[in-house]
Amino acid sequence: HAQTRVAGSAFDFAEVTAGVDQDHHVAEGYDADVLIRWGDKVLADAPEFDPENQTAEAQEKQFGYNNDYVGFIPLDGADDHGLLVVNHEYTNEELMFPGIVTIADGEAVVAEATEDRVNIEMAAHGGTVIEIRKEAGKWRTIPEGTMNRRITANTPMQLTGPAAGHARLQTAADPSGTEVLGTINNCAGGVTPWGTYIMAEENFHGYFLGELPADHPEAANYERVGLPAANYDWGRFHDRFDVSKESNEPNRFGWIVEVDVMDPNSVPKKRTALGRFKHEGAESAVAKDGRVVFYMGDDERFDYVYKFVTAGTYNPDDRAANMDLLDEGTLYVARFDEDGSMEWLPLVHGEGPLTAENGFESQADIVIEARRAADLLGATPMDRPEDVEPNPENGHVYVMLTNNTRRTEADGANPRAENAFGHIIEIVEDGGDLTATRGTWEILVQCGDPSIAEVGATFSTATTENGWFGMPDNCAVDADGRLWISTDGNSPSETGRTDGLWALDTEGEARGTSKLFYRVPVGAEMCGPCMTPDMTTLFVAVQHPADGGDDWEGFGRISHYEDLSTRWPDFRDDMPTRPSVVAITKQDGGRIG
Ligand code: FEO
Ligand code: CA
Ligand code: CA
Ligand code: CA
Repeated sequence: HAQTRVAGSAFDFAEVTAGVDQDHHVAEGYDADVLIRWGDKVLADAPEFDPENQTAEAQEKQFGYNNDYVGFIPLDGADDHGLLVVNHEYTNEELMFPGIVTIADGEAVVAEATEDRVNIEMAAHGGTVIEIRKEAGKWRTIPEGTMNRRITANTPMQLTGPAAGHARLQTAADPSGTEVLGTINNCAGGVTPWGTYIMAEENFHGYFLGELPADHPEAANYERVGLPAANYDWGRFHDRFDVSKESNEPNRFGWIVEVDVMDPNSVPKKRTALGRFKHEGAESAVAKDGRVVFYMGDDERFDYVYKFVTAGTYNPDDRAANMDLLDEGTLYVARFDEDGSMEWLPLVHGEGPLTAENGFESQADIVIEARRAADLLGATPMDRPEDVEPNPENGHVYVMLTNNTRRTEADGANPRAENAFGHIIEIVEDGGDLTATRGTWEILVQCGDPSIAEVGATFSTATTENGWFGMPDNCAVDADGRLWISTDGNSPSETGRTDGLWALDTEGEARGTSKLFYRVPVGAEMCGPCMTPDMTTLFVAVQHPADGGDDWEGFGRISHYEDLSTRWPDFRDDMPTRPSVVAITKQDGGRIG
């Protein structure tokens, strides 16, 4: 058996060969089993998936599209029984609906939206909570689970915290400014120490259409987030997504959503204290003094890294006592200095420039326009901050910066202009205390192919030609403090490889060594990842398989009924390709990695 452990490495699995084909691939000695697919039952009374006859009513009971964040919430402390929580970030209508794409002059044309199609898309967004169990080494879903639920773009939710009820959040349908329907574009997320499910609202700007007059009071606010981008047709059938008809609705999205998964009838809460921006995720850990710290990226070129420190402390003995911790605390944004130090700058009304003279009448205005507040504080514009995860044991925090090809001037924390492959920053909070307002930082790795000198990649020399990656996106720190990274955008046409999951050493002589553990089918992006606490199962999410982009002949954005690149995971002529969550276990039942 080949020697598979690099000296000093925390990982000893045999690396997967990088590449791209119709299937997924996991390291030798492991099984990768599809656990749940788009259209599978989440509720016991869900109909069987029928791709030719989709309805919103069916989709509301079935697993949604484009699984992204995956979390595992153990039931009764078990490692083989719990709730799987999964975000459904967005929809690819051209891959979902049969016969809506025609090719004219070599160009794919998607048929005009219908109300039925829009309603199915809205039902395919949001999240899933489903009970799962491992028996004889294999996981299965339990559609009869009493806590199972689908959350969609129509699920009633409550706005809480400093912006709740504010005039800027009031609409014709909700004069209270506290009741909003649904959540959208939930990318990464989190599970809190008290076992609630966090859904981060990311690219919400894409769901709004219509014109706002240039002198409208929200015009600058919406321009700062690129809204309305009109990527979806929802506003043609639902007035609240048309800013010319309901100008305040966009202020009700872009938040962190908290779901109490133990009660399937609980009303999800949009926690405005954590700010409104394009939230990638919100992973948390309990600090030494019991306060809880949430790390958050704002995924846009030249936007910021944030953290939120609760005012109250976590009570491990009383779950109910933690349920509103996210309504009070301090939101901070990061400034990375050239000398390797950093400061967390508080976004607090009345402090520094965050006053009425600059248009901030209260903390509500600060959180609604968190980006503008952070601009005024002098936060450091970053190369698209994605997932940010703390290692609670040592106070180190890993920041995924996916790429930024529009950067013209490098700086310390964003050291490459035209940064096509991204990088990872490691923050060390002062004293290992996650609540610290100062710390130090260094670049853990600059991503890309180390064999191409001008790329400027900095993986360790022990990293093989399979082991390097670009575009870090979601990540996870496992119970041993080991870092796992999923990628978005390793285009087959440019690199001959697809996205996947990499294990990256962060400590000792192997620091900066990366190995490929799993790769996705063609067209897919890698999401999740999530390790069970005992580290014997790793859940990953395969998002948008067969989505070829526009640049690879034969894998284009065409109907799934002709010339299809992959029909993973079913490989059936009568079944479209389906985004799915995969459970990875070791064949001998041992620890992953
Ligand atoms: Fe939805 Fe930032 O990835
Ligand atoms: Ca992401
Ligand atoms: Ca994560
Ligand atoms: Ca992504």
